[in-house]
Amino acid sequence: MKSLFVCQNCGNEYARWAGKCPACGQWNSLVETPATKEVRSKKSGLRSRRRRKTEIVNLSSPSLLTTQNSQLTTGIGEFDRALGNGLVSGQVILLSGEPGIGKSTLLLQLAGSIDKRVLYVSGEESPGQIKLRSARLGIPEEKISLATETDVDVLTGIIDNCQLLIVDSIQTLTTADLASGQGSVAQVKESTARIIATVKEQGIPTIIIGHVNKEGEIAGPKVLEHMVDTVLYLEGQRFQSLRFLRVIKNRFGDVGEVGVFEMTEKGFREVKNPSALFLEEKSKGPGSVVTSVMEGSRPVLLEVQALVSPSSFNYPRRSVSGFDLNRLYFIVAVLEKYLRLPLSKLDVFVNLTGGVKVEEPATDLAAALAIVSSVKNKALKAKTLVFGELGLSGEVRAVSAQDKRQAEAKKLGFTQDVSPASVKTLIEAVKKAL
Ligand code: TYD
Ligand code: MG
Repeated sequence: MKSLFVCQNCGNEYARWAGKCPACGQWNSLVETPATKEVRSKKSGLRSRRRRKTEIVNLSSPSLLTTQNSQLTTGIGEFDRALGNGLVSGQVILLSGEPGIGKSTLLLQLAGSIDKRVLYVSGEESPGQIKLRSARLGIPEEKISLATETDVDVLTGIIDNCQLLIVDSIQTLTTADLASGQGSVAQVKESTARIIATVKEQGIPTIIIGHVNKEGEIAGPKVLEHMVDTVLYLEGQRFQSLRFLRVIKNRFGDVGEVGVFEMTEKGFREVKNPSALFLEEKSKGPGSVVTSVMEGSRPVLLEVQALVSPSSFNYPRRSVSGFDLNRLYFIVAVLEKYLRLPLSKLDVFVNLTGGVKVEEPATDLAAALAIVSSVKNKALKAKTLVFGELGLSGEVRAVSAQDKRQAEAKKLGFTQDVSPASVKTLIEAVKKAL
C-alpha cells in the first residue's frame, strides 16, 4: 500500500519523508499515513470529474434562497448576537479556546436552551459527567441526547435525525482509514471534512469544539479554519469570570462581533450591559478615568487606572495590565515632552479593570489623563468620559465610532466627554478633564 507523509504542523502532504517540512520549516514533523482512499480518489477523481456534468444555476433561481432564510436562533442572546442572527442551516462553526475556558459548558447550555433536537457528541466526557454538569446548569435532562462516539464514520451515520449537532471535541474523533493517532493533524482534518460533507448535505447546523495548543493555534495548525463557515473563539482570563465570544471568521455575517458572558457556579450568564459591570466598582479618586473601547460593533465603557509613585530603582518601572506596554512608553514620552511632567524618576503602572485586554489606540488619551491625575493627585471631574488617540506631537486624533461611544456613555449618565470631538491637544484635554 502506498503511503503519504503528512506534516503534523501545517498539514501538507508529501510522497517522501524529509527531516524538515518544506512548507512550514518545522523539523521532524512529517508522519507516515497510509494513503488509502485519499490517493486513490485523487487519481480516479480526475477521470470521474471529466465524465460528470456539473449543474449551472443562476443566482435568481428560487432554490438558492432556502439556506440563507432558515435562521435558527439559539436562545442565548449573546451567542446569536455574535453570530449576527443565530445559526444558518448547514452552517459549520468551529468553537475554539483553551482547555478549561468553558467551551463544553457554553454548548451544553446552548443545547439546553435551543428549541430543537440536539445531538451532543462527546468524546471528552462520560455521559455520567455530562449528566452531573447538566444538572448543575439546571438543564432539563430530556433535552439532551448524547452519544459518546469517537469514530467519525459511525458518527456521520447517526446524525440524520437531529436538528443541531454538537461535537466535543474534534480532537477526539478518528477514522479507521488513517493510521495516525487521535488528535493528529491528519485525523482532525479528515474528521472535519467528513462531518462537513455529511451535515452540508443534510442541512444540519453544526458546532465543533476545537482545543487550541500553547501557541493559541487550533489543533496545532490552522488547518480547520478555512474548512468551516464560522470560527468562534472563547477567551478570557482564567482567574476572572468574564468570557468573550469573538467571531474570527464568518461566511454568514460580520466578523469582529463579540458576545460577553460571565462564568458563575451555575454556568454562563449573559452580560447584556458590560459597561455597567465594568463600572460597578469604579474608584472616584485620582488616577481613575473612564474610557470607551469598541468590542465588535458595541461600545463598552471601562476604567483605566494609573498609579505613579517615586521609584526606588535607577530605571523607573513601567508596568501594565491589559494595556499595551509600548503604548505606555510612548504616552510617558509625550507627557514628559508636552506637559513637562517629571516622570523620569517615577514608577508608572497602568491597569484596565475587569481583566480586559485592549489594543485600541483610542484608550491613549484616557491612560495619559489617568497618569496626569495620579501625578497631580487630583481626581477627574465627575461623569467624564475620555477617549481619543494621542499623536507624537501631543495632538488628540480622531478614532472610530465616536458617536456610538458618546451615546453609550450618555445612557450610563456621563455628562461630559473629553474626546477628539471636543479637544484638539493633550493640553486642552487636561484643562477640560481636571
Ligand atoms: P469546560 O466547559 O469544561 O471547559 P472546556 O470545555 O473549554 O475545556 O469548563 C470548565 C471550567 O468551568 C471549570 O474550571 C469549572 C468551570 N465551571 C464553572 O465555573 N461553573 C459551571 O457551572 C461549570 C459547569 C463549570
Ligand atoms: Mg470540554
